[in-house]
Amino acid sequence: MTSELEAILARIKAANLAYHTQDSPIMTDADYDALRRQAEAMLAAQSEPTEARTTLDDVGAAADQKFSKITHAVPMLSLDNVFGTEEFTEFCARIRRFLGLNDAPLRFVAEPKIDGLSISLTYEARKFVRAATRGDGTQGEDVTANLLTLPTLPRSLPPGAPERIEIRGEIYMSKADFLALNNAQERKFANPRNAAAGSLRQLDPAITATRKLSLFAYAQGETAAPVATTHWAYLERLKDWGFSVNPLSAQIDEPQAASFQEKLGLARSQLAYDIDGVVYKIDDLMLQSRLGFVGRAPRWAVAWKFPAERASTLLEAIEIQVGRTGALTPRARLTPVNVGGVLVQYATLHNEDEIARKDVRPGDIVELQRAGDVIPQILGRLQRGETTTPFIFPDRCPVCGSLAVRDNDDVVRRCTGGLTCPAQVSERLIHFCSRGAFDIEGMGEKTIVEFFRDGLITAAPDIFRLTHQEAAIAAREGWGKLSARNLIAAIESRRVIPLPRFIFALGIRHVGETNAKLLARHYTSYQSWRAAMQAATIIGSDERLELGSISGIGPIIATDLAAFFAEPHNLATLDALAAEITIADAPSAGISESPLAGKTIVFTGTLSMARPEAKARAEALGAKVTESVSKKTDYVVIGAEAGSKAKKAAELGLTTLTEDEFRALAGL
Ligand code: IVH
Repeated sequence: MTSELEAILARIKAANLAYHTQDSPIMTDADYDALRRQAEAMLAAQSEPTEARTTLDDVGAAADQKFSKITHAVPMLSLDNVFGTEEFTEFCARIRRFLGLNDAPLRFVAEPKIDGLSISLTYEARKFVRAATRGDGTQGEDVTANLLTLPTLPRSLPPGAPERIEIRGEIYMSKADFLALNNAQERKFANPRNAAAGSLRQLDPAITATRKLSLFAYAQGETAAPVATTHWAYLERLKDWGFSVNPLSAQIDEPQAASFQEKLGLARSQLAYDIDGVVYKIDDLMLQSRLGFVGRAPRWAVAWKFPAERASTLLEAIEIQVGRTGALTPRARLTPVNVGGVLVQYATLHNEDEIARKDVRPGDIVELQRAGDVIPQILGRLQRGETTTPFIFPDRCPVCGSLAVRDNDDVVRRCTGGLTCPAQVSERLIHFCSRGAFDIEGMGEKTIVEFFRDGLITAAPDIFRLTHQEAAIAAREGWGKLSARNLIAAIESRRVIPLPRFIFALGIRHVGETNAKLLARHYTSYQSWRAAMQAATIIGSDERLELGSISGIGPIIATDLAAFFAEPHNLATLDALAAEITIADAPSAGISESPLAGKTIVFTGTLSMARPEAKARAEALGAKVTESVSKKTDYVVIGAEAGSKAKKAAELGLTTLTEDEFRALAGL
């Protein structure tokens, strides 16, 4: 595989994970689609596609561990996309070729493509019994209890419905319900789709119950008896059974597709919910089953996506924001303009070079684009303002006034103020409390900025000292006894943190979640990581070389880590933090090679190592530690004065180890 293709596939994988598992997209739908097409084109040109094909055929991402899994009786697949009349015509031509039809126009059902998440609903003996998300298409998450909080979900089917039937559809949140939810809580969802996904995938259905979710039914899964001979008739049956079916759906002939597409594209911004295209499905179910599937998608249906939405407006000013690593990021302040139903006031300008390349200046009329959910982008200038001058990027931090510099080939200019720059400090604190890091409910951006401004917190360890400040917090404007208590409880619940999350939370440059995991696996405990990092501050030291040779880390990140540990105030912060919290060890990288991996172990008698440590060491190597001896026990580690467990091990003929033998196996 070429490295370019590999890089594209890696980006697709990351985007899949962010979108489906983390409910937090990292790119626009348009960019994602463009990446997929690029990969498809590159794959078509070469002959060794297996691994790459799997990435492209992956639908969604693996089910989240926290829900129990449901294997779909019929896989839940995805849809191929088209972006214009030509591609749609080609899609129809492929169907005709496949079926050996002549020029007869095809009959479709056209349905709005709802921007939500797909759901499978199973009814047995005409009673609702199960709901599952799509997951990876083969296995989804069991969200039955959550679905039961939807008032509009039919709980049973009328007589005449099949004994067993699975109905599929889309769970979504209306634009109005999404805005109301975001207004009511500090943590904002990026868009209605993420809000719907985040609300549905709650372990506590009581939370789902407070969110306003809706459902459109639109597809068949497994069924004990056929329900209809056309998709249209199937939708009619669903309506009879009490499901809500999208009222804009229509039976159309092939030549009408383009005008349907246009009509819906115009209506889009007025709809109560987000749609991102139209799905065209062959109406005749017999033809559908003959057409079947290829890869991840059916041959009998396609999603014709809408183009990204554009508008033009006045660029009022270019503002500079300072991030947690000191990066100076420009954003455009615009005269508010409606882009596809969303009022846009800010757009990203990425960096200094981008502004120069586009040569956009305050006073210009610019064109902007909003694709799906992420921050709108400036495409370019439409009209030069009358009295404009080229924008000069500041060489000082707009917040603390420190010099802002650009390293050799870095596109980003950074404030050199470090922890003396209030913007950097508060951004770091925001990162520290964020979802992938300490994940402290209630410590969102607004709270952190206010607490920081008022001196309640100045650095990360202060967050854990807030637990002594309940009364002071309760007395603040907008707070009360209950909200203060909730915040303290949320902080308390995060006093134990797994090592990878801890490393990520520190916000070291280039150390995102993936690299934090790599480091945690390599060094396994906080103490050994810290010791190695401190030693690695010396260029050329064994520790620096070891760090740079960890697969996925490399010398650049090693330098960033060393720079972080070379700062005495960072070490002081780490020590202060370690005094407040417990950092749990990570399983080591060599886990699957360890002779203890997958083994069940019982410790008995007195060991020189304390029992919790022995247990943790064994677990870190992938072993399962249990209290009682049974036939399933692989090893019984026998210390001094062992009693009945040692006797039982002998009776069952199990393998027993002395402490020294255990240490040898564990590599201690
Ligand atoms: S039919 C085998 N119909 O779009 C085809 N899907 O990009 C099953 N979607 O996973 C899907 N509205 O979550 C179908 N009217 C509609 C839809 C729709 C939204 C979603 C669905 C699917 C995804 C594919």
